[in-house]
Amino acid sequence: MPHSVKRHRRLRNITPEEKSEERMDISVLCIFISVVAGVSALENGLVRTPPMGWLAWERFRCNTDCKNDPDNCISDKLFRTMADLVVSEGYAAVGYEYINVDDCWLEKERDFNGQLQPDALRFPYGMRDLSNYVHSKGLKFGIYQDFGNYTCAGYPGILGYLQTDALTFASWEVDYVKLDGCYSHPRDMDRGYPEFGYYLNQTGRPMVYSCSWPVYQIYSGMQPNFSSIIEHCNLWRNFDDIQDSWASVESIIDYYGNNQDVIVPNAGPGHWNDPDMLIIGNFGLSYEQSKTQMALWAILAAPLLMSVDLRTIRPEYKAILQNRKIIAVDQDPLGIQGRRIYKKNGIEIWARPITPVYQSYFSYAIAFVNRRTDGTPSDIAVTILELGLAFRGGYFVEDLYEDVSYGVLTPDTKIKVKVNPSGVVMLRADVQISYKERQFPPPQSVYRPYDIFQVTRPIFKKK
Ligand code: GAL
Repeated sequence: MPHSVKRHRRLRNITPEEKSEERMDISVLCIFISVVAGVSALENGLVRTPPMGWLAWERFRCNTDCKNDPDNCISDKLFRTMADLVVSEGYAAVGYEYINVDDCWLEKERDFNGQLQPDALRFPYGMRDLSNYVHSKGLKFGIYQDFGNYTCAGYPGILGYLQTDALTFASWEVDYVKLDGCYSHPRDMDRGYPEFGYYLNQTGRPMVYSCSWPVYQIYSGMQPNFSSIIEHCNLWRNFDDIQDSWASVESIIDYYGNNQDVIVPNAGPGHWNDPDMLIIGNFGLSYEQSKTQMALWAILAAPLLMSVDLRTIRPEYKAILQNRKIIAVDQDPLGIQGRRIYKKNGIEIWARPITPVYQSYFSYAIAFVNRRTDGTPSDIAVTILELGLAFRGGYFVEDLYEDVSYGVLTPDTKIKVKVNPSGVVMLRADVQISYKERQFPPPQSVYRPYDIFQVTRPIFKKK
C-alpha cells in the first residue's frame, strides 16, 4: 500500500470518542497558546551540522517479541548493544553520536500520574538508566513520540500531555526527540509542533527536535509553512518512510531532486531536511547502491542515521558508513544543501557547495550517478566549468571513494568518470585559495552549471 494511503487511513482511524477527547485536549492547549505566542526561533544551538547516529526503526521495526527473538526485539538490550558497537567499531570516532529509540518502546497506557512509561518487560531499568548508559559511552540519547493520540504503532501519543512529556524527557536526560504525526490532524500541526518545541525549550535541557510536520501536511494536500518549520524544528521529514530497497532509495532521490527548488533553501545550520535513515548494510541495497545512498545523503546535507544491525554488518558496508571524506562533505560547516544539476538518459549529476570558499567561489562535492541498468558502466565527460566551477585559479580534485586525486584542474579541463550501473562517482573540488585571483576580472555568481554535459557512451534507446 502506498505510504500516503496508509497515512490517510491512520488519520481516519480516530474514533468519535477519541475525536471529542482530542477536542477537549485542543481547547486545553488553546489556553496555552497565549503563552506560546511570541516564542521565538527554536535556536537551541544544536546540530549546526546534520545529526549523525543510529536509529532503530528501519531495521528493527516494531519487533516486541523478546520471548522468541530476544536479540532483535525493541529492548534495553538492543540499544545498549548498539551503543557499545557504535563506540567499539569506530562509528563514534567518525562522528556518529546519537543512539535513537523509535516507536514501540512504551507501555500501552500512561502511569497513574499520566506519565509515559517504557514497556516494563523490555525496558526493565527504565529510560533514565538507559540514557545514563548511552551517556556513559560518550554518546547521546534520542527518543520517539507522536503529536497525535497514538504513535504510528498505537502506543500513547503526546496530545494532551505536551508539557508533561517534555518534562519527562528532560528528566530522563534525553538529547533528541523525534515527534511523529500519526493519529493527529495535519491542520493542527502548525500550532502543535511549535507548542511542543516551546515546552522542550522550557525544560532548559537542549534537545534536538525532529519533526514529521511537513510530510503529513504534504500528504493531506496542505502546503507546509516552511518558515515556521525552520524556526521551530532542527530537522523534518519531507517524504515517505525509507524501506529496504533500491526502489525506495530512488524514489527519495527523485523526490528531493524534483522538488529541490522548494526544499533546498530550507536547509542550513541547525535546521535540516531529513530524507530518512541510511539503510546501508541491510538486505536491499547492493554495494554500488549503498555507495550511492551515502554520497547523495551527503550532497543533501542529510542527517546520517544508520539503521542497520551493527553486530552483523559486512566490512565493505561498514567502510561506506565510515568513509570520512564523504562524512566531511555531509558535515560541511556551510550547511548548504546540494542540488541535482543534470539529469538526462539515466545520468544525473549532483553538486553541493562546500568549504573552503575563496572570495565568492565555493568548493564543491560532486556526485555522478548512473541510474541506468544496462550492465556496463557509463562514461560521463564534462569540463570543470560545465559543472559550474568557474574559478580560473582551479580546483584540487579528488575522488572520495577511490582515494585518487587529480591535482589542480582549471575550469577548461575535461574530466571523464566511469560510473557503474546504479552506482556513483563522488568527487570533491577544492577551490585553490592560494591563487592570486586579482589578475582576473571579478568573480561572477558561482553556482551556475550549464546543461551541456556529454555522456560519451552511446545511449541505448528502447524501441
Ligand atoms: C513512521 C515514521 C517512521 C517510524 C514509524 C514508527 O510514521 O515515519 O520513521 O518512526 O512511523 O511507527
